Amino acid sequence: MKIASPWKRLQGNHFWRAVDREHNRIIIEQLAGCTHILDLGCGYGSLTAALQQAGFQAVGVDADAEQIAQARALFPEAANALFPMDAARLEFPDQRFDAIVLRDTLHHLWEEADTEQAFSEIERILRPGGRLVIFDPNPNFVVRTARRLIAHQDAECTFQQARTWLEQRDWKIQRQFFTELFALPLSGGYVGLELVPAWPALYPPLIAANRILSSALSRWGLGPHLLWRYVLTAVRQTSFGASRTT
Ligand SMILES: C[S@@+](CC[C@H](N)C(=O)[O-])C[C@H]1O[C@@H](n2cnc3c(N)ncnc32)[C@H](O)[C@@H]1O
Repeated sequence: MKIASPWKRLQGNHFWRAVDREHNRIIIEQLAGCTHILDLGCGYGSLTAALQQAGFQAVGVDADAEQIAQARALFPEAANALFPMDAARLEFPDQRFDAIVLRDTLHHLWEEADTEQAFSEIERILRPGGRLVIFDPNPNFVVRTARRLIAHQDAECTFQQARTWLEQRDWKIQRQFFTELFALPLSGGYVGLELVPAWPALYPPLIAANRILSSALSRWGLGPHLLWRYVLTAVRQTSFGASRTT
């Protein structure tokens, strides 16, 4: 199924717009104490703009120049901080950022890019002790079934693969949880069916119920099986300079 102009769902009364903001809120909660943030694989730029609005010095980059052009049009206030750039070659000085966010981007770096090269770059431009925040699809039975129903194919990086990868590269996992029970699937995201009518009064209670149920299920250990996203926050234990000499 092909959706024309998916970015339009970030505008008007689309439920996805409210869900997208909720995802940004969850990510921003992981960034306390950080100032300079890179939104790597920023897509249409909503997180970069939200980070700036929250007071961070945020930059967004994406390999797809067309998405960057669209992002600049959607969020003109952040246009000067949105650049086309591939994760394989991040044109920033060493240790430039306090934190790097991969929002729905890790699975692409995992299956469609040179993961080793991308992470070498991430580790180079993150300051010692800097933070990596991963927010990525949790490809469990529910998510895979839903994707099959709408004939949507996507790359995958499981929670366990992400964890193992980070630990092997000397990252220390600080926080891990699962989130997103029903708001994302009801909204359709960028590519699915929109199952909630365009009635904004409905959105806050739906988002609140989704938040409460998601966090309860995550706490009860059901997140891996039922929830649509995982969140991993990690800190690199070895500084870039130290790992280079070994
Ligand atoms: C699923 S989209 C997520 C976009 C945005 N972060 C969001 O949450 O809406 C994944 C994004 O990663 C970008 N991407 C994939 N491979 C990349 C790479 N090697 N370097 C930079 N960006 C990449 C894609 O162009 C795409 O915009």
